Amino acid sequence: MKPHALAVVLLNVVGVFLFMSSPLALGQSPKGTNSLAVFEQRILPILQSQKPSSCSECHLSGVDLKEYIRPTQTETFTSLVAGGLIDVEKPDNSKLLQFIARAPEKPNLVTEKVRRLEYEAFRAWIQAAVSDPKVLNSSAKAEPIGPQIPDEVIRHARQDRVLASFMENIWTEVGRCAACHSPDRNQKQVTEHGEQVSWIKLNDPAATLAYMVEHGLIDPKEPEGSLLLMKPTMQVEHGGGQKMVVGDRSYKQFRRFIDDYAAVVAGKYKSTDQLPKAVGEVSVVTDIWLKIEGVPESFDKMLLQADLYRQTDSGWSPFRVATSDRPVFGKGKLWQHSLSLTAPRDSKWANEITAQRLPPGRYLIKLYVDRTGKLQRDFNAELNDEDFVGEVEVDSRWPVGYGKMTVVQFPTTR
Ligand code: HEC
Ligand code: HEC
Repeated sequence: MKPHALAVVLLNVVGVFLFMSSPLALGQSPKGTNSLAVFEQRILPILQSQKPSSCSECHLSGVDLKEYIRPTQTETFTSLVAGGLIDVEKPDNSKLLQFIARAPEKPNLVTEKVRRLEYEAFRAWIQAAVSDPKVLNSSAKAEPIGPQIPDEVIRHARQDRVLASFMENIWTEVGRCAACHSPDRNQKQVTEHGEQVSWIKLNDPAATLAYMVEHGLIDPKEPEGSLLLMKPTMQVEHGGGQKMVVGDRSYKQFRRFIDDYAAVVAGKYKSTDQLPKAVGEVSVVTDIWLKIEGVPESFDKMLLQADLYRQTDSGWSPFRVATSDRPVFGKGKLWQHSLSLTAPRDSKWANEITAQRLPPGRYLIKLYVDRTGKLQRDFNAELNDEDFVGEVEVDSRWPVGYGKMTVVQFPTTR
């Protein structure tokens, strides 16, 4: 075992010991302990601390231990009792202690230390307070205590929810950036440009998100200026060239996560109706390529979106099963890009797309071109009937790989 691994194990054992230790081992005769002194020496400093409480390990915002403390001991006590957070009969069973004791499977060592201090402080104070008649019988007014925002908002700001959104909106797309940004594939880029090009942490979305925030690739203070958006759209110079266009599907997904992340971190959401609406479609990128030849030169540099519908026994599928969007290369009368598979959330097809394969067969491809630049003006805009430029049918086995593109001709009549 490596020395630091051993240290982790030892610390964990100590942590478990402190949390599990019997009242006798720790609290040492709360009777006679001056509860006010404990409150002032151990609880008030938590209220005054600039540092986030241990809750922040799982709650990005919306919840903080400070919200469970009032300026005076009696106010704090009566409010916590009224809120059902202190068990006067069995102080060690108090719900507040259970909140504090809650730890992730792999806790951060610093937070774990903070958590232990918080736990011991509250445990000592609660024990002293319930055996102090002055506090127990205080006539201080009980005020609402704890976070005063709806549970749904608290849930939305939880680290596990935020990570799930990161995986759905960004992690699913980074395969497109992997050739140059994943440490298993980018030796040449690292040699030429430095270690910072390896921002993908292999098979570890949580570490990737943490890295992006720490190194400013995601900027919660100015979300739309995040490097993660500015680089691939070439709003600032990018060694990999243009990989995204403002308003395309990937850009929308990136913004969906980054804007929401910024709002969560800033604690902007106060009510349920401010939360972003759930999106009905899920997607995965593939290495299946589609090429369209004979595209009118006049569409040069405009975003062309191809939506694929699959032939079924009852006609074309009612929803698009794949899509792709990319600017037209006018001079070459050409458009080509990899497909993203798309599915209604929770549908059977949504489970199947994770295999990143498109079943062989006949498909209808509907084509849209952003001729008015509406996506640049409003990245939330969608291409629709006004932008429709034609459709084409194709039979393909949809082989994987840049060298095995499915090729269709741009439709000449509508
Ligand atoms: C290990 C992760 C973790 C830590 C640390 C944590 N919580 Fe939570 N918290 C959760 C989860 C998960 C839920 C969702 C409800 C459940 O499963 O009980 C939750 C729910 C809540 C809720 C109720 C909202 C709801 O969804 O019902 C409150 C209030 C809350 N936590 C407060 C706190 C406070 C205060 C702290 C710090 C003292 C804290 N939590 C620390 C994981 C955590
Ligand atoms: C063909 C190679 C290539 C591809 C593909 C590529 N990039 Fe890059 N990218 C680079 C190179 C080279 C750099 C370093 C030079 C620079 O900063 O422009 C870079 C830098 C970056 C940076 C700055 C990193 C930092 O910390 O300075 C970001 C962010 C970025 N790329 C995002 C993306 C995204 C998002 C994608 C996928 C949608 C992508 N790139 C695809 C080559 C690529």
